Amino acid sequence: MSTDQRPPRASSGIFRTKSVEQSIRDTEEPEHGLRKSLSAWDLTVFGVGVIIGTGIFVLTGKVAKENAGPATALAFVAAGIVCALAALCYAEFASTVPVAGSAYTFAYASIGELPAWIIGWDLVLEFALGTAVVAVGWSGYVRSLMDNIGWHLPASLEGPDVPGGTFDILAFLLVLVLTAILVVGMKLSARITAVVVAIKVTVVMIVIVAGLFFIVGDNYKPFIPPAVTPEGGGSNWDSPLVQLLFGYEPTNFGVMGIFTAASIVFFAFIGFDVVATAAEETKLPQRDMPRGILGSLLICTVLYVAVALVVTGMQHYTELSVSAPLADAFKAAGHPFYAGVISFGAAVGLTTVCLILLLGQTRVFFAMSRDGLLPRFFSKTHPRFRTPYRPTILLGVIIAIVAGFTSINELATLVNIGTLFAFVMVAVGVIILRRTRPDLHRAFRTPWVPVLPIISIAASLWLMLNLPGETWFRFAVWMVIGIVVYFAYGRGHSRLGRQGASTRS
Ligand code: ALA
Repeated sequence: MSTDQRPPRASSGIFRTKSVEQSIRDTEEPEHGLRKSLSAWDLTVFGVGVIIGTGIFVLTGKVAKENAGPATALAFVAAGIVCALAALCYAEFASTVPVAGSAYTFAYASIGELPAWIIGWDLVLEFALGTAVVAVGWSGYVRSLMDNIGWHLPASLEGPDVPGGTFDILAFLLVLVLTAILVVGMKLSARITAVVVAIKVTVVMIVIVAGLFFIVGDNYKPFIPPAVTPEGGGSNWDSPLVQLLFGYEPTNFGVMGIFTAASIVFFAFIGFDVVATAAEETKLPQRDMPRGILGSLLICTVLYVAVALVVTGMQHYTELSVSAPLADAFKAAGHPFYAGVISFGAAVGLTTVCLILLLGQTRVFFAMSRDGLLPRFFSKTHPRFRTPYRPTILLGVIIAIVAGFTSINELATLVNIGTLFAFVMVAVGVIILRRTRPDLHRAFRTPWVPVLPIISIAASLWLMLNLPGETWFRFAVWMVIGIVVYFAYGRGHSRLGRQGASTRS
């Protein structure tokens, strides 16, 4: 890595950037540093651990039934391509700027402080709501298992998605327990993750291999169901923005339905970007980061397409269940034993997804606090565990409450729009950093810059446009709040801004 003696550029403005070397130096301060213990294998396990979750176990059935039919497999391919393009950009950044905070850190080093803040604020939304979504999905599977053995919670404690329910006690407790695990330390959670990931992948393989024997060819006809107008005309804010903007009659299914489905099942891929948030805790980030990110993404894409093909082949898409489609397809085929095993694996597997999203969340918050954009109080690591315990506890409790009281449907699309927006910013960052810092050592180089990042930006924007108008509105509200917080606090307390001021005086 080259040494950089240059002071931060434009240090008084909202586009001041933090040098890559400064980012790395910050991680070496003993009080604010994280332990470096992860290998490429750990990262891949970590990636698969977070990527396979509610998306494949729950959303597959919903989009097959409502948006794409058997062509859901194509939706996974489309979403996978968008993610692969973004992954190639993430991998370059993560191997160049191996510091906690993912896209936030990358943007700080390339585009400037305000865009970095916007991304960080956006990632807080992605990870916090993502954790809540998965916790609620986990709770559903656990309740289904409990029902199998005759245990029932009082309806009021089953969560707002259940008639008569108000508070999801299981989701709430899960987030609190995982918060405690993260406070105690990374190594413990990585070990638990490895075991759980093995169970989860085994269950997915069971779905694919066992399911192959129950496929009925007629279920694939028509593979792309013809477009239909949704009930109520669909001309409200529930419809994809692209349909509202261009004023044509909103439809489900058909070719456009595949893209609507892709913008939803995109949730199933979220997580490879989280791998990048652990760069600072990686032994050899320059080599291991790209391997971890691309490896885990590839494995998951292949599994998803196979699962989507098998499940829509086992049951006609109109009959798929929307809450536990993989297990219920086996029940419908007369194999409740497989259904039980799948439900168990899903419940166990979703635990790691939740854990890793929560981890990514606290690491972004930690990085923003270390830079002074959020109070520095949050970036002191624990003297014994060396973990950022303060943001972990604060955010863990807030997310537990959100998971307890909130329904999952609308949250998932909000998570997706936030993540896609971060992808756009990362791709822009790759192009900018190539121009402003061509000298930096890049262990992994994105091919065909700037063409590939530009295609990545267009692809991410396209999926964003396929999300509902109301999701765009909520996202805009969150972002406006973030910008107000930046100007009210972050801008004045920024460590980089203060260093710049003292350099000038
Ligand atoms: N990709 C993760 C899931 O599907 C977030 O649950």
